[in-house]
Amino acid sequence: MTHYKNIADLGALDGKRVLIRADLNVPMGKDKDGNPYVTDDTRIRSVAPTILHLMDKGARVIVMSHFGRPNGKVQPEMSLEQLAQPLSNALKKAVVFVNDCTGDIVAETLDAMEGDAVLLLENLRFHPGETSNDPDFARALADNADFYVNEAFSCSHRAHASTEGIAHLIPSAAGLSLENELTALEKALGNPQRPLCAVVGGAKVSSKLDVLINLVEKVDHLIIGGGMANTFLAAKGIDVGSSLCEHDLADTARAILAKAAEQNCVIHLPTDLVVAKLFKAGAENRVISLDDVASDDMILDVGPATVAGLAEILKSCKTLIWNGPMGAFEITPFDAATVALAKAAGKLTAEGAMVSVAGGGDTVAALNHAGVANQFTHISTAGGAFLEWMEGKELPGVKILEK
Ligand code: 3PG
Repeated sequence: MTHYKNIADLGALDGKRVLIRADLNVPMGKDKDGNPYVTDDTRIRSVAPTILHLMDKGARVIVMSHFGRPNGKVQPEMSLEQLAQPLSNALKKAVVFVNDCTGDIVAETLDAMEGDAVLLLENLRFHPGETSNDPDFARALADNADFYVNEAFSCSHRAHASTEGIAHLIPSAAGLSLENELTALEKALGNPQRPLCAVVGGAKVSSKLDVLINLVEKVDHLIIGGGMANTFLAAKGIDVGSSLCEHDLADTARAILAKAAEQNCVIHLPTDLVVAKLFKAGAENRVISLDDVASDDMILDVGPATVAGLAEILKSCKTLIWNGPMGAFEITPFDAATVALAKAAGKLTAEGAMVSVAGGGDTVAALNHAGVANQFTHISTAGGAFLEWMEGKELPGVKILEK
């Protein structure tokens, strides 16, 4: 079990300047007057307990984050100023914004602040040194702080100045939610209770090739759903009609099946299918067997017999990792398999029979849609970082926090 430096390891915090790397890269929409607003504030809310905890210990808290991909240039529409109010709402504290993230202006603004307020810095990626992990830029960030706290698992696959470089320069620690996240991930894939099952779904095999290859070495059961299951079915000689399918990856799919057999990993592909002629909510659809796909059929979900079989597999497992929906869950009724399987996993977790970890934007949306997100042991809102963790890669922003 890997141990990480945590906030308690930093020692006394009273009067100390603590710089937190948050991920305030939240989705935005525009209201009817064209004003931007946050459409999902999960990431803002998730950093709040650590900020409040540090304030409670007497620390002077500075929050830094990136927002979008401004390519090292100032782009006003990507200013973090627009997140000062949402952050203040989550904290129920004043948030003072400063329009740079390094230099004397940061120190001066912090010194001028009165009362119980938090300082929010401007978008880190307005400086090219952030993404290039420039040591001078990391030093400039560190110059305004006594301690560094990483609270951004979703950015920890990036070796950037604010996620990796700075941790070489001042005492550092994982924030409360990062610590929880790492403990849950360790339970799921580091030292899991077996049998261990993974569900991997989503549109394309090509986007999750490394995930599949890593998982067949580690898990006892691998459930493949979504569009990527079609590629595997086609590789086995099944006609998938007009379905989404990467025919050019047939050899790769066969190699994964062969590797799984060598490693005693049971791969579960659909045994029945839900097909429609149109990709549209409420489209007329049929439940068919694998050899009944017509040339103009699109496979949009796995069928009820598959779901019943998979629910039994889940019952036999002690740990579950989930990334990607089983079907076109964003349109009814093709959300049925994802919802049913998510409910089965949520129930087993709530009963204490299973540890379940899920991650990725689509997956979180699917589990919320199924109404079971709060039953899972841990849900990661990270996209790329969660996938890289599933690929078995070391995350630089996490590695640097190892004890
Ligand atoms: C995310 O939204 O997944 C993180 O904020 C990382 O963003 P990035 O892919 O631009 O590094």
